[in-house]
Amino acid sequence: MFAAARQTSSLAKRAFSTSSVNNTRVAVLGAAGGIGQPLSLLLKLNPLVSHLSLYDIRLAAGVAADVDHCNTPSKCVGYGPENGGLEKSLEGADVIIIPAGMPRKPGMTRDDLFNANASIVRDLAQAAAKVAPKARIGVIANPVNSTVPIVAEVFKAAGVYDPKRLFGVTTLDIVRASAFLSGIAGTAPKDTNVPVVGGHSGPTIVPLLSQLPAGKKVVEAGGEQLAALVKRIQFGGDEVVKAKDGAGSATLSMAYAGADFADSLLRAMNGEKNVTLCTYVESPLYADKGVEFFSSPVTLSSEGIVGEIHPVGELHPTEQKLLDACLPDLKKNIEAGVMFMKA
Ligand code: NAI
Repeated sequence: MFAAARQTSSLAKRAFSTSSVNNTRVAVLGAAGGIGQPLSLLLKLNPLVSHLSLYDIRLAAGVAADVDHCNTPSKCVGYGPENGGLEKSLEGADVIIIPAGMPRKPGMTRDDLFNANASIVRDLAQAAAKVAPKARIGVIANPVNSTVPIVAEVFKAAGVYDPKRLFGVTTLDIVRASAFLSGIAGTAPKDTNVPVVGGHSGPTIVPLLSQLPAGKKVVEAGGEQLAALVKRIQFGGDEVVKAKDGAGSATLSMAYAGADFADSLLRAMNGEKNVTLCTYVESPLYADKGVEFFSSPVTLSSEGIVGEIHPVGELHPTEQKLLDACLPDLKKNIEAGVMFMKA
């Protein structure tokens, strides 16, 4: 089943395990930010992590010193930009998670972040391509629809691109869909696994509610409730941006989602079979429509990289409409990322 809605209990149960079960190095780039700090803490609690490298242009050493005092088996080390800190933080990395970049303020869309974040992600990807070209990379920095193609272009330019190792982290959309639907349906969130496909911004977020019994009821009833639920899943991030009133966007729920995303990779790398999650990857599904990256359920291989990309499955006509609206927007977002690198 989809990892995001299933993870709560497993993360919580394993968080205080006293033994590390493998030798896996994880690097977090942008580790001192609103997402980076709680994400680093959650990764420190994950027994599948043996070494955690925290990189940021500010405060990383302090965050690492703090997190490292948690009495779990992994070691946590911080790096700033001085003395080649970025490259040092990436040495031997098996998994790299990138939450570096500016978050939204009220009234901004994720695409408004492009100018600020495209070059940050490009520069971090260049270092990753040089030092840890085989690492699995999870991009959190927005706009994910464009930043993932930017990383792909950087890796292509460096001659080390493997599309199976590059992921856009859309897990928060799945987490939100699970939380919001279970709130309406009265189901347990862990059993309310809503696949969310497409991309990660407004209309490119396509929840497939009809694919589980609780959601199917809401979809078939239609009307206001369905429209409000879909809108809430697509624009749930705006709710947080508005409530934080200028102080940023989702950080804690994103850290939770990011830790779950990383946990999926780590579990697959650790031998768990059939780990499947919705994630934004280079995908053949809509490539004939010029959409080279798309999020759909992906089963990871034993290396913790893309194994099988599943199609979206059966869609209710209302979902087909959402998908039809998603594809042209997504195509533009992907092109923006590619054009940025070509320029
Ligand atoms: P924040 O501003 O609190 O933290 C960003 C961190 O990145 C800061 O510590 C900053 O020093 C660091 N940073 C900036 N430039 C850097 C560079 N060149 N190298 C390393 N670190 C650098 O922002 P927050 O709230 O943590 O959000 C981070 C990003 O995540 C934003 O782009 C935001 O839009 C995105 N986001 C993505 C979500 C998703 O579902 N994928 C959900 C929520 C936010």
